Amino acid sequence: MKYGYFDDLQKEYVITEPRTPVAWINYIGTIDFGGFVDQTGGALLCKGDPALNRIIKYIPQLPGGEFKGETLYIRIGGASGYKIFSPFYVPTLDHYDRYECHVGLGYMKIISEFYGIETEVTIFVPLNGFCEIRDICITNLNKEPVQLDLIPVIEYTHFDALKQLTNADWVPQTMQSKIIEEAEGRKILTQYAFMNREHRVNYFTSNHPISSFESDRKKFLGNHGYGTWKSPESLNQDELSNYEALRGDNIGALMHHLGVLQSGDRKRVITQLGQTAKIDEAIKDIHKYRDPKSVDKALAALKQFWEDYLSKAVVNTPDAAMNRMLNIHNPRQCYITKNWARYLSLYQLGFGARGIGFRDSAQDAMGILGHAPEEGRELVEMLLHVQNRNGSAMHQLNPLTMEANAGDSREMEDRPKYYSDDHLWIVLAVCAYMKETGNMGFLSKKIPFYEKDREEKPLEWGTVLEHLRRAIEFTRQDLGAHGLPLLGFADWNDTVNLPYGAESVFTANLYGAALKEMTELMEYLGDAVSARKYHGYYQEMKQNVNQCCWDGAWYIRYFDDKGDKIGSKENDKGKIYVNAQSWSVISGFAPYDRAVKALISVNKLLNTTKGIKLSYPGYSGYEPEKGGITTYPPGAKENGGIFLHSNPWVIIAEAMLGNGNQAYTYYTQINPALKNNIIDEYECEPYCYPQNILGDEHPQFGLARNSWLSGTASWMYQSAVKYLLGIRPSYGGLIIDPCIPTDWQGFTVTRHFRNAVFNINVKNPEGISKGVKQIFLNGNEIEGQTIPIPDGGTIYDVEAIMG
Ligand code: GLC
Repeated sequence: MKYGYFDDLQKEYVITEPRTPVAWINYIGTIDFGGFVDQTGGALLCKGDPALNRIIKYIPQLPGGEFKGETLYIRIGGASGYKIFSPFYVPTLDHYDRYECHVGLGYMKIISEFYGIETEVTIFVPLNGFCEIRDICITNLNKEPVQLDLIPVIEYTHFDALKQLTNADWVPQTMQSKIIEEAEGRKILTQYAFMNREHRVNYFTSNHPISSFESDRKKFLGNHGYGTWKSPESLNQDELSNYEALRGDNIGALMHHLGVLQSGDRKRVITQLGQTAKIDEAIKDIHKYRDPKSVDKALAALKQFWEDYLSKAVVNTPDAAMNRMLNIHNPRQCYITKNWARYLSLYQLGFGARGIGFRDSAQDAMGILGHAPEEGRELVEMLLHVQNRNGSAMHQLNPLTMEANAGDSREMEDRPKYYSDDHLWIVLAVCAYMKETGNMGFLSKKIPFYEKDREEKPLEWGTVLEHLRRAIEFTRQDLGAHGLPLLGFADWNDTVNLPYGAESVFTANLYGAALKEMTELMEYLGDAVSARKYHGYYQEMKQNVNQCCWDGAWYIRYFDDKGDKIGSKENDKGKIYVNAQSWSVISGFAPYDRAVKALISVNKLLNTTKGIKLSYPGYSGYEPEKGGITTYPPGAKENGGIFLHSNPWVIIAEAMLGNGNQAYTYYTQINPALKNNIIDEYECEPYCYPQNILGDEHPQFGLARNSWLSGTASWMYQSAVKYLLGIRPSYGGLIIDPCIPTDWQGFTVTRHFRNAVFNINVKNPEGISKGVKQIFLNGNEIEGQTIPIPDGGTIYDVEAIMG
């Protein structure tokens, strides 16, 4: 409880101590306009590509107390002596009497008290909006009247985030600010940046008369540029200099004199920071959001969006921390991750630097299907555009240009140029979408295969079904010496990069899981010939995996190019890898006894109290022939760290075997909502999953990093709802197949599915983990465990009795 608490009613986490161990953030807006805000009001905003169209300068590597992107100063008193502070704590670092940063759904609200001044600032981007709004309410809690000034400040970056850091003459020479005067003292401070033929106009304004402004950082800080953000010299003058910068480090500082506030008086000022091609085009919005009523409406609409989104699936289990995650924070993270892929966080820069990952986004899409299936489909469609003619997929794409690339494999000359797993994930995602929606027509939609030289070569179009078929066929013909899929540059584990000829047991299993989906789909479509074919492929691979990869107590993970095993008891390091175990169960390749043994080995050799490690023991020095995995110390990231993305796969595997207690323990041990009491060790936000936690071979065991944008979000949600609670869409209806801890007496789920609402009540009178003996639909018992497709938009009561 040291840094904050959950307020489930408001669907917020409330940070009460701004000095969190690392910045804790929240996302506002979308890629069209948005970014993130940290717990001290610092912000990173962009419009489009975060690498190529940044608006304000947020440098995560700076110390916590430093100014980042945006802040607000309040000035108490008259010219005879000012007291200046920031109600966001940073950058003035004053003593505060109250600090609350409400991490809400699509907004951040900071409420603080310093020197008897209560400030409440709500920060958000309206739905489909192109500006950030800061709605500031100030109240004088002192007995005496106080004279107050309000100075919101932003610092611009050149829109090319890297150029800003790498060119210190050309960049500042292009940065220019101009003021636009409007009626009644209203002003718009515009800021331009140029590059070749491109330019951008940023604007910063408010709904209150602006008595003066500053656009040059050096002048604002004073002392010949040696002034500090903590104590900017210009704020000791009544007015700012009204300087319109024609170069330099451009900022926006707007002086608002609020006058004298009597005890209890409250004032409201609304600022806007936006970007437009031409300022005229933004004027309408600027005027609209100067009206507090429009701002209230926009915030209400945003809240409504999230209410609707979350209402699609609501659970009530005996575990409050699980409810909290499944009803609020986990689906929110799934949506954020789906929107922002891996291109804007405290840890990542933008498309230019990386691109949307084919495999990552396919998995992200699966995390939102229950809440926003058509958005999931749109993402999947986008990915299908960069699937190659031969069925494999490009590794990354820039969604703005639809240019794709081969990921890190570009950089290693002597390694294969494709990833063995990417294209297979899309099979899982497409099938999951159709199970959710029943929209089988999607299979006939025509989408082109990727062609780099689009000008030169005619595009080849294929139906979605053809894309899936080619994905399967690619792997089927891309096998190595043991009949397992060749590794390519890498599989899911990006960091094991072996010379050509290496084979991947993980990809074999993923292929198995994709084949199960294809067989089921073909059966549903009535195409018995194809169903038999895919089942045949499945059996072949199952046999290969079981013949060559069983190592006595677990499955090995790779064969290298020489045919040597990796992930075997024969190895000194990297003896066992978790994904080879979980996925051999998920694919159904592992016969029961091997499945049980493999998962026991996971528990014995890979589990820790803080999560399951990816592999063990960690490699303890650089081995170029293995690749990136050996660049980390033992216990970090893929080298034996707790790579959380892989944990839910073990949960799913345990649930498939019926081990509800074990599955639930694995779920609980990484539930971020339970980290509140060990935050000093864990460090990251307790309201979303991080990508990794240092493992027990590392001296900082338990330290989390890379929060927010991780496949962990999608899979933890899926593992909990589809496998622990067992509510799973299928072509024929909604499956009820829970696998829960034996001490749960039951749980309820309200699930929207195919235009109907199901109020599901699961009872567990015998204290078991798995097995359903009766299901009643509106009081009538049905056969089996699948609630049939509903007739229409009705509400149904479902009672399931375990036994
Ligand atoms: C990162 C990548 C993901 C990969 C994982 C394991 O999370 O985004 O694609 O599967 O690392 O290497």
